[in-house]
Amino acid sequence: MASYPFPILLFLFLSISLSESKLSPDYYKQSCPEFDSIMRDTITTKQITTPTTAAATLRVFIHDCFVEGCDASVLVSSNSFNKAERDADINLSLPGDGFDIVVRAKTALELSCPGIVSCADILAQATRDLITMVGGPYYPVRLGRKDGLISLASRVEGNLARSNMTMDQIIKIFASKGFDIQEMVALVGAHTIGFSHCKEFSDRLFNYSKTSPVDPEYNPRYATALQKACKDYIKDPEMAAFNDVLTPNKFDNMYYQNLPRGLGLLASDHAMVKDPRTKPFVELYATNQTAFFKDFAHAMEKLSVLEIKTGRKGEVRHRCDQFNNINT
Ligand code: HEM
Ligand SMILES: *[C@@H]1O[C@H](CO)[C@@H](O)[C@H](O)[C@H]1NC(C)=O
Ligand SMILES: *[C@@H]1O[C@H](CO)[C@@H](O)[C@H](O)[C@H]1NC(C)=O
Ligand SMILES: *[C@@H]1O[C@H](CO)[C@@H](O)[C@H](O)[C@H]1NC(C)=O
Ligand SMILES: *[C@@H]1O[C@H](CO)[C@@H](O)[C@H](O)[C@H]1NC(C)=O
Repeated sequence: MASYPFPILLFLFLSISLSESKLSPDYYKQSCPEFDSIMRDTITTKQITTPTTAAATLRVFIHDCFVEGCDASVLVSSNSFNKAERDADINLSLPGDGFDIVVRAKTALELSCPGIVSCADILAQATRDLITMVGGPYYPVRLGRKDGLISLASRVEGNLARSNMTMDQIIKIFASKGFDIQEMVALVGAHTIGFSHCKEFSDRLFNYSKTSPVDPEYNPRYATALQKACKDYIKDPEMAAFNDVLTPNKFDNMYYQNLPRGLGLLASDHAMVKDPRTKPFVELYATNQTAFFKDFAHAMEKLSVLEIKTGRKGEVRHRCDQFNNINT
């Protein structure tokens, strides 16, 4: 101990605490100057060839952030020692394109600046770039996240909203992550893109109640079309429907306009326009896309730094699907 002069200890202490607090959009400016352009090129190529990528990535991102924070814990694969987050029993059926985009970007980045860029930063930046590419708002992503050291299927339950939950339960989950009701309604506007598998809403289509086979809250023509699309969903679990039936691939405020017309796909979507706590915000965003974009951008910026790990609380993974010490 005596061999370390006091000023060096002080310097070490200062540099650790600085690196822990210093998150910035320019984080990789010196260490990986090509970060922005590599991300943009990877995303553009993938989204053009596979238009489901934007929604897939956004969904993987929110699942990452709501369980253990935005630390790429969702990207880790299970092994014989560890059943990882992405394989939770709640079967999230997380979309493969959301994982693939991170692998592609990581591969390109490791060639340009090996060992520098975290998987958590890649996922956060990819999500922002993809939202913008499909017409959504831009927001700054502060960088410098480390990749988490924990990924456990057992930590998933209770952290994610499900389509069959009551509004009370859904509000509680978002509140536990620091989001108020208006922020929650803005975030759920993400359902303006992407799709849902039939099993997530089939109880609204078949054998709904004693008096009605289908949820009477659905627009009747929409319900008929969904019944047809999901007719064989038990035999073919890949069957799915667009979350926003009118403009499925465009990030806009159509999701909110759909809800009062009975065009909300999931029970939780429809609940947003029924519940008096959320309805005013649905109405605001349905009539004012600028207000939606502004609030969505703010909420995403907040989501992007949820419980992030910095300094020694994480690492920069060599491979996004594996901890660097694979025995942990
Ligand atoms: C009330 C809260 C929410 C519930 C109950 C919910 C539930 C769901 C369900 C069941 C699906 C379909 C998954 C599948 O069948 O594969 C889905 C898809 C999706 N969710 Fe949510 N979600 C909620 C909030 C959010 C939020 C806050 C975001 C992002 C900010 C989000 C982004 C997405 C996206 C982008 C998709 C489409 C995925 C794809 O096309 O691959 N969701 N959601
Ligand atoms: C969960 O979903 C994935 C992807 O759709 C599927 O391959 C896997 O078999 C499912 N796991 C369980 C336990 O249902
Ligand atoms: C929601 O559905 C899942 C299965 O899809 C079930 O395990 C769970 O108990 C249901 N939750 C509620 C609140 O009904
Ligand atoms: C609806 O209920 C009937 C009677 O309980 C059953 O025979 C039928 O298979 C159910 N249909 C679906 C699509 O679940
Ligand atoms: C829409 O929302 C924006 C942003 O909050 C606001 O500045 C604008 O005045 C609103 N427009 C209308 C027509 O209310």
